[in-house]
Amino acid sequence: MTDVKKELLYTGKAKNVYKTENDDEVLIEFRDDITALDGGKKDTLNKKGAYNALISSKFFKILEDEGILTQFIKLINENEMIAKSLDMIPLEVICRNIATGSLLRKYPFHKNQHLQPPVLQFDYKNDVYHDPMLNDSIIIALEIATEEQLQQIRQITLKINKVLSEFLYERGLILVDFKVEFGFDKDGNIVLGDEISPDTTRLWDSETHKNFDKDIFRKGEEGVVDAYEVVVNLVLNDEEKQKWNID
Ligand SMILES: Nc1ncnc2c1ncn2[C@@H]1O[C@H](COP(=O)(O)OP(=O)(O)O)[C@@H](O)[C@H]1O
Ligand SMILES: [Mg+2]
Repeated sequence: MTDVKKELLYTGKAKNVYKTENDDEVLIEFRDDITALDGGKKDTLNKKGAYNALISSKFFKILEDEGILTQFIKLINENEMIAKSLDMIPLEVICRNIATGSLLRKYPFHKNQHLQPPVLQFDYKNDVYHDPMLNDSIIIALEIATEEQLQQIRQITLKINKVLSEFLYERGLILVDFKVEFGFDKDGNIVLGDEISPDTTRLWDSETHKNFDKDIFRKGEEGVVDAYEVVVNLVLNDEEKQKWNID
């Protein structure tokens, strides 16, 4: 336990969010719990939380450098991030560059079809309703976001896609698809929150198309954490690896 942690605000499937002494900031603890298939598949994997926190922090820093507002303040421990406290928008914003997973089950895309422009999808982040897909009209009618805010969310998500796709491709990985969540900061800005990690992306080796993400767990295969460790090693620079004892 670190002393900045105060009361637990909420506990989700993979992270705990704590209040801190500063009302504008929260502490996000990345746990080792992993779930898939709408909570139907669960496990606890040593170091998974730390790897996701390290990867997310790196991505947030890169995005900040490109002018995208993110929640990231600092990593105070390998699995504990100090972040801006956000009033979360209950949307899972999904961006896809290649057709795979549920897209193939639901629509007549070809396997691994390149999606250009990328396909954007909004799901309602709501466990009771099992995260149904929304459209603009439903989002506006439910007062989840306004038309202008949705347009801004689309623009930011496409920029995240471009920045991270390029960064990862230079390191031998294809960003196949990802999910992001946004929230409002105290000034009403739309800010990227939550995490971007192998739990929330599909990352493929650019040559073999081997997975380095949660699909390994979804398929019931071994080596999930080893794959996440490969991603940590690919994205962190030497200084960052030394700081967090990654070899
Ligand atoms: N910066 C933030 N401020 C407040 N809440 C956040 C922030 N970033 C993420 N959250 C919320 O923290 C919760 C915990 O994360 P997670 O374990 O992934 O939960 P879930 O099971 O709901 O996806 C999520 O509901 C997420 O929306
Ligand atoms: Mg989550």
